[in-house]
Amino acid sequence: MNTNFPKDFMWGASSSAFQIEGAWDEDGKKLTVADYNSFKKSHLQADTKVASDFYHNYEEDIKLMKELGMKTYRFSLSWARIIPDGDGEINQKGIDFYHKVIDKLLEYDIEPFVTLYHFDLPFALVEKYNGWEGRETVYAFERYAKICFKEYGNKVKYWQPHNEHNLIVRVEERINIYDETDKWKIDKMRAQMDYNLCLAHALAVNACHEMIPDAKIGPAVSSSVTYPLTTKPEDVFAARMNDNFKVYYMLDMHYYGEYPGYYMEYLKKRNIMPYTEESDKEILKKAKIDFIAINYYRTNCASYLPADEDHPFGLREGTVDFDIYGLFKMTMNPNLTATEYGAAIDPSGLRVALNEYWQRYHLPIIITENGLGTPDVLEYGKVHDSYRIDYLREHLKACDLAIKDGVDLMGYCPWSFMDLLSSAQGFRKRYGLVYVNRTDDELLDLQRVKKDSFHWYKKVIETNGDLDH
Ligand code: BG6
Repeated sequence: MNTNFPKDFMWGASSSAFQIEGAWDEDGKKLTVADYNSFKKSHLQADTKVASDFYHNYEEDIKLMKELGMKTYRFSLSWARIIPDGDGEINQKGIDFYHKVIDKLLEYDIEPFVTLYHFDLPFALVEKYNGWEGRETVYAFERYAKICFKEYGNKVKYWQPHNEHNLIVRVEERINIYDETDKWKIDKMRAQMDYNLCLAHALAVNACHEMIPDAKIGPAVSSSVTYPLTTKPEDVFAARMNDNFKVYYMLDMHYYGEYPGYYMEYLKKRNIMPYTEESDKEILKKAKIDFIAINYYRTNCASYLPADEDHPFGLREGTVDFDIYGLFKMTMNPNLTATEYGAAIDPSGLRVALNEYWQRYHLPIIITENGLGTPDVLEYGKVHDSYRIDYLREHLKACDLAIKDGVDLMGYCPWSFMDLLSSAQGFRKRYGLVYVNRTDDELLDLQRVKKDSFHWYKKVIETNGDLDH
């Protein structure tokens, strides 16, 4: 066996608070944006009320992490468990819960890798300040981050302020834009929220470096790799711009402390320049990130989308993957197959992504999410998910090659450690290495069952990356 994974490679797995914890209103926790959105679909699919019940089962679950051999566990804290109103009283029971989780991880030599905010803004901040639109939310986040650094800083050395800020702002319900129909107003709000998230991120980075000098902190990016649909030069440019508008405008802000020219031009042309303050500049420039975390699920294609009189420069009605008239239009890659849920499966794209991020920023990279969302079948106490093993193996081969290319890849955390609530599609869409015995309609006994992929990944970790078994 000959692999390129370094000796201290951080083999891990991931999750997030609202997707596993349940106990949505226990011990003082209050409503979050993620709860609110999931309750709207409670009649159709599982919601956040119980999820995988990690809150009551964390000891057993962490024991399984130990058995898997995990070196790191990437998870998130629920802001509304720690500060139920977002910027009000601190909830000691929330603080204590995460101490217990972190202590258990450390007892088993598993490095905690903590995200502060993963889609679950305390709903009280929406009611008070329209969430990220208000600068008050930025300062509330800074306070929350400092509380966490003070509490857990002697135990937690890896931090991510936000999960996928670049994706959060693209999904309207995730940034609590519910009733507004005027597209220009939505974009204006979106631009303000985006900027405020950047500022909050920078404040957290600066506070982390001041309060925990031996800690590392960086952004978690929803990655985008876009191929030109044809070899026409305008399609090549469209593909570049799609990546720029989905990822690099934000990473450049985190890295250089300012938005790049094409993004500023877009804000100007659309007349949606966000409100900023002079003193922000210094905060943004000072915030030096230590690594880049990437979440990788798919790649796409793009072609040029001309603007015309009916469609002047600006966003085309879209969902997560908006298009921009005058710049680009996204499509699926005709050369790739997709999962049942529409994500193009592209392991080689991961090699492209890793090289690209490395060449642009020369910062260590960790993959904090990568996985296959699909229904699994529990049969006679087993889950034979060979399709997931194939998926993970091919993506890990891409990592191995990228390391050989010279990329400083420090770790890999598949999504997800255990089955959890999909961010929008309930419990049928499973990602875990560990099966959780429940369905969208029935809680059943929530028993944990190690899938075949669990046993396979355990061996990968044991052998530091032997993928051929
Ligand atoms: C990532 C999120 O974007 O995608 C996770 O960080 C999410 O929270 C994952 O679960 C997979 O997406 P989904 O919608 O299938 O849950």
